[in-house]
Amino acid sequence: MEQTSTYISEPTSELLNIAQISHEIRNPLTLINCTLQLLDYRYPQLKTDDLWKQLAEDVEYLKQLTLSLSDYNHCGKLSFATVDLNNLLETLISNYLPLALSQNKSLTLDIPQKLPALVCDEIKIRQALINLIKNAFEATSEKDSIEVTAHFNEKRIMIAVKDTGKGISEDQRSKIFQPFVTEKESGTGLGLSITQKIVEAHKGSIRVYSREYIGTKFILSLPIFQKQTQDRKI
Ligand SMILES: Nc1ncnc2c1ncn2[C@@H]1O[C@H](COP(=O)(O)OP(=O)(O)O)[C@@H](O)[C@H]1O
Ligand SMILES: [Mg+2]
Repeated sequence: MEQTSTYISEPTSELLNIAQISHEIRNPLTLINCTLQLLDYRYPQLKTDDLWKQLAEDVEYLKQLTLSLSDYNHCGKLSFATVDLNNLLETLISNYLPLALSQNKSLTLDIPQKLPALVCDEIKIRQALINLIKNAFEATSEKDSIEVTAHFNEKRIMIAVKDTGKGISEDQRSKIFQPFVTEKESGTGLGLSITQKIVEAHKGSIRVYSREYIGTKFILSLPIFQKQTQDRKI
């Protein structure tokens, strides 16, 4: 399924609401976290209670949600620089190798020795790739594999994240880029929509190929050069 690289600017009121809501949630959340830590200190035996564990997980989920909402709100504001993509991809994969090892999965990087330097917002592109890699980890089981590859032509760089996990049904595929669409108990459903927004803000595109029980491949296609090199907001 091909996602177009056309972008539609969000109504300002929607962006404001997201910013306000996540800000308003974050303040009491910080207080709840402090209270939990105090309770934990006063009553160490609480740690063994299942309800306490559930509470800690719920608070962590809320924390992740507010962080993702903030990412969602800011993913169109870019700060361009010339980035060494080989270095970015190698560092990223080495960060995830311990996780792959602990879950008995294979994680590989197969890229040309010298990819062209990419003009992009490095933090945002890393965030876009992390979202895909995290999803690949969450969709796979022991002995599965996750592979990151890249190739290029004179205008674009294509980066693929491929896994041999559970795949995505056809019905689900049409919805996965929408915010808050998730099949996970503690998912926010924001990862792919953030990735798509980041890629489209770079005038790139994202495609997904998937077969249930066989695996999934996401391909990001990014222009090597950006026409506008100052901050751009969508
Ligand atoms: N690599 C993948 N394999 C299988 N399903 C996937 C994969 N990536 C994304 N999905 C599906 O897309 C949904 C949305 O993903 P995402 O936006 O990252 O939100 P979340 O990870 O919080 O659920 C996931 O819940 C999952 O059902
Ligand atoms: Mg995700």
